[in-house]
Amino acid sequence: MRVLIPHATIQETLQELARTLRHDYQGTTPLVLCTLKGACLFLADLIRVLALPVEIGFLRVASYGSGTVSSGHPTLVQELHEDIRGRDVLVLEDIIDSGRTAQFVRQHLLAHVPASLRLCTLLNKPSRREVSVVIDYCGFNIPDLFVVGYGMDWNERYRHLPDICVLEDSDLAGASQ
Ligand code: IMP
Ligand code: MG
Repeated sequence: MRVLIPHATIQETLQELARTLRHDYQGTTPLVLCTLKGACLFLADLIRVLALPVEIGFLRVASYGSGTVSSGHPTLVQELHEDIRGRDVLVLEDIIDSGRTAQFVRQHLLAHVPASLRLCTLLNKPSRREVSVVIDYCGFNIPDLFVVGYGMDWNERYRHLPDICVLEDSDLAGASQ
């Protein structure tokens, strides 16, 4: 395992994202929707530096079984409790890979007629895109690597790591059984 993006660099980027979001959402109270589980640390750190009144909500979409390759069929495993009709909704994603999860979430939320709907992702892997996705705010573009830490997992492991790390083949071999 090696560190790709250290915790301090993540926090600097969150400050920049917060500055932009503060500007774009001034005078509103957006509903920030966190996609579970991967974006939970991103949500927690971002809203603390946002200096903007927000409400939060959670939705859970599963597209990965186990392993490092998406099933390609996102499904909603936890429905929204909040009424998003007429709200300014900002979706927080941990990472956009094929784009299928983000596209699925967008279509699902648009059916509930929010006033506005934007997507903010911490990480983006543009080289992996299979369906086109409009990303309104992005923390980091990264190459085609499987990353863990800072909320992101491999088989539910490593979410607690403060840095974003690259999982290498030797880690997978060592952890398999
Ligand atoms: P997509 O639907 O292929 O864009 O995948 C999006 C979801 O897959 C993300 O929200 C993550 O939960 C997961 N994912 C994609 N790439 C990675 C990775 O490198 N590490 C951990 N999870 C990933
Ligand atoms: Mg995941």
